Amino acid sequence: MQLYLAPLQGYTEFLFRNAYARHFGGIDKTIAPFLPSGLGVTVKHKRIKDLWKEHNELIPIDPQILGKSAPEIVPVGKYLFDYGYDTLNINMGCPIPTIRAKMRGSGILAYPEMVEMLLEKLYNELQNKISLKIRLGNESAEEVKALIPVINQFPLKELIIHPRIGTQMYEGTVDLDSFSWCVENAKAPIVYSGDIFDLATFKKMQNKFPGISRWMIGRGLLFSPFLPEIIKKNDCSWVKDELYRFWEFHNDLEDEILTYRDRPKNQLNKLKEYWRYFSQAFNDSENIFFKISRAADFENFRIIIDEIRKNGIWRAGLTENDQFTFIKFL
Ligand SMILES: Cc1cc2nc3c(=O)[nH]c(=O)nc-3n(C[C@H](O)[C@H](O)[C@H](O)COP(=O)(O)O)c2cc1C
Repeated sequence: MQLYLAPLQGYTEFLFRNAYARHFGGIDKTIAPFLPSGLGVTVKHKRIKDLWKEHNELIPIDPQILGKSAPEIVPVGKYLFDYGYDTLNINMGCPIPTIRAKMRGSGILAYPEMVEMLLEKLYNELQNKISLKIRLGNESAEEVKALIPVINQFPLKELIIHPRIGTQMYEGTVDLDSFSWCVENAKAPIVYSGDIFDLATFKKMQNKFPGISRWMIGRGLLFSPFLPEIIKKNDCSWVKDELYRFWEFHNDLEDEILTYRDRPKNQLNKLKEYWRYFSQAFNDSENIFFKISRAADFENFRIIIDEIRKNGIWRAGLTENDQFTFIKFL
């Protein structure tokens, strides 16, 4: 069984990945958050900063690009191949309305003929192995039924499926019946991605889909950074004694952010963004996030963090059968 860290734009960039890998185990591989596409044959090295080798010594990584046409994707694919990345993942799942509207991300899923044309050109023009990250469709899960026969014509390295449709964004539930259809009909090795927030859910999924051996974890790892190790060990009894590792990781992440982000306001905002997720691991998470989001400066932020460290009650991943509930707040 392999566990993948999901690409989460704005969260799982190299600062996070490296701090994470120094304190937690269980992740075998990751896909980088998407590089935006752009026209033009020259690629500046700075554009792929997140993928620089020196930033990626700890977790094996495949680059991802968001684009709908070969001229947008091929120059970046070639550049990445020459730089040493043998695989390119194409993002066909991004649900952001302005991106979908331009037939990028999940927007392309409703047009299997466009996907076919794109893949044909990529296979002709690139040496990279190609993998795809898709949803079940843009507006309907029926779309995947027209899409899979098209992508079955190509020797994809893997097919990562998040079983929602684009218009759902992250709302509602994952559609496991349609995912099941994909498992039966897709030729490429499948990676499952969606709503694995706890051991109980993972086990249920593993029982339901015994043929799947690659599992991707995104938000669940931000809520509960111990989750990949819990899954690999099939045990969570040890977590309560190792919570100090979360705080060591937090210090490390803060150092990374202070090193690589320049303006104090940006640095603080970045940390606050992570707490949108980290707070979920504690009881009274909404109140914790509210306090953190109002921190005026680093001094104030650290006082709040110290208070949580002393008095916060960790709730995530402590018991085997509990399903973790994600509390959404803005
Ligand atoms: C904030 C955020 C950013 C994301 N960024 C990307 C991205 O850059 N590329 C991508 O393919 N998927 C992206 N996703 C989708 C995730 O990789 C994943 O498929 C989805 O969150 C479902 O898995 P989860 O429930 O384990 O988080 C993003 C999701 C979120 C919530």
